[in-house]
Amino acid sequence: MRIAMIGTGYVGLVSGTCFSEFGVPVTCVDKDADKIARLQRGEVPLFEPGLDQLVAVNQAAGRLAFTTDLRAALDGADAVFIAVGTPSRRGDGHADLTYVFAAADEIAEALAERPGSRTVVVTKSTVPVGTGRQLAGIMAKRLPAGAFDVASNPEFLREGSAIQDFMRPDRVVIGTESEHARTVLRALYRPLYLLETPVVFTTIETAELIKYAANAFLATKITFINQVADLCEAVGADVQDVARGIGLDGRIGRKFLHAGPGFGGSCFPKDCAALVRTAEEAGRRMTMVEDVLDINDSRKRGMADRIVAACGGTVAGKTLAVLGLTFKPNTDDMRDSPSLSILPPLIEGGATIRAFDPEGMAEAKKLMPDLDYCGDAYQALEGADALVLVTEWNEFRALDLARVKDLLRSPIIIDLRNVYQPDEMAASGFIYHSIGRSIAQPQAGSGRNLRAVA
Ligand SMILES: NC(=O)c1ccc[n+]([C@@H]2O[C@H](COP(=O)([O-])OP(=O)(O)OC[C@H]3O[C@@H](n4cnc5c(N)ncnc54)[C@H](O)[C@@H]3O)[C@@H](O)[C@H]2O)c1
Repeated sequence: MRIAMIGTGYVGLVSGTCFSEFGVPVTCVDKDADKIARLQRGEVPLFEPGLDQLVAVNQAAGRLAFTTDLRAALDGADAVFIAVGTPSRRGDGHADLTYVFAAADEIAEALAERPGSRTVVVTKSTVPVGTGRQLAGIMAKRLPAGAFDVASNPEFLREGSAIQDFMRPDRVVIGTESEHARTVLRALYRPLYLLETPVVFTTIETAELIKYAANAFLATKITFINQVADLCEAVGADVQDVARGIGLDGRIGRKFLHAGPGFGGSCFPKDCAALVRTAEEAGRRMTMVEDVLDINDSRKRGMADRIVAACGGTVAGKTLAVLGLTFKPNTDDMRDSPSLSILPPLIEGGATIRAFDPEGMAEAKKLMPDLDYCGDAYQALEGADALVLVTEWNEFRALDLARVKDLLRSPIIIDLRNVYQPDEMAASGFIYHSIGRSIAQPQAGSGRNLRAVA
């Protein structure tokens, strides 16, 4: 058994590396020659915890190779996975399948040069219902029946814990009508069978829809708790306790009930939008998902107003220290990060932003060149009028509060991730704004530079 993986992004590189860790020889292909050259030298071009070690081990063992040459990668491959990007199409928000179809064309062309071989073509990219069938059509134009099989194997890994998610997934979904494809994919995932991972065998269309339904559901859960957080603020309740109180109900579950600035990232916004389009094309409406997208967009924009209000109604001439830029911790991915909606309006409002993110700054600099990028959290805080915590990296969870207070010109913290406890912050002398909880005011005698606020 050997496989080819097309695309060495977050999904392709992690999946390819993990399959090689399962003992399967894997050749990863990318069009980006620079990325491949770096990988060949043993450099991992993206940040994902643990990935560089896993790549190094499997590369050294000769089970993991990188190339720009798709034909060579397909030589003797039992299966080829398509793990290229499917971003939102400009204009209508549907999934842009340009990369998927380009990869499919290249695969069909290369396989046509190898008569007698049989290869399973698997979509790992998130693709709308119907794409697998279209892919089969592309293959059938160049290849005789029996030379290829098509399957959908959507990926559910999360950036930041991608290796663990791939190695110990909640489930594997395999959509195909081909017994041969089932056999090949079952063999590839054999190590997970030993862990009793549930495998859902289904049709291609169902597998494609499972991925979108999963992401839309999770986005809905986040949006629900965010609206509950707004209500908590209005009625004096605490969203953390509400989330715990409902989440302990096994029917609801505790995960994805963290109120915050709104969801972002490379998947939820684009996948929700694509699901809405898929439904429209099928003559149906996913009005709930449409609402989720609207609510989330206005929420992200509203975060800037919240920060302005916390700064006394204007940020003109003020300096804000911003900690965290990526859409979540443990990744360098800036795609659709809430910071991209929150920070530009603050700059337009006259603020200077001193920002720090442990891994996201190289990418953030390309997208928000107007920020002042700092070497660490404390440098960002120097002389700032307020601290805004946007992404909950672990290193921001245990800041030296006395030092924070000394560095800030006024002790205002706006914590969009509820990392700290309001009473602890009040006791430390901060005016502490968070999400879905009351504003904490400094306790008498706790703050020595409160005059600056007044
Ligand atoms: N990132 C995630 O957390 C995640 C999780 C689950 C599913 N997905 C889905 O997986 C897919 C890939 O996402 P990603 O985040 O890894 O994307 P990415 O943008 O990080 O990587 C895509 C890679 O594919 C390469 N590529 C494009 N066309 C190619 C071609 N014809 N031949 C060879 N290489 C080509 C690009 O150069 C790039 O390196 C998307 O459909 C996404 O929705 C992503």
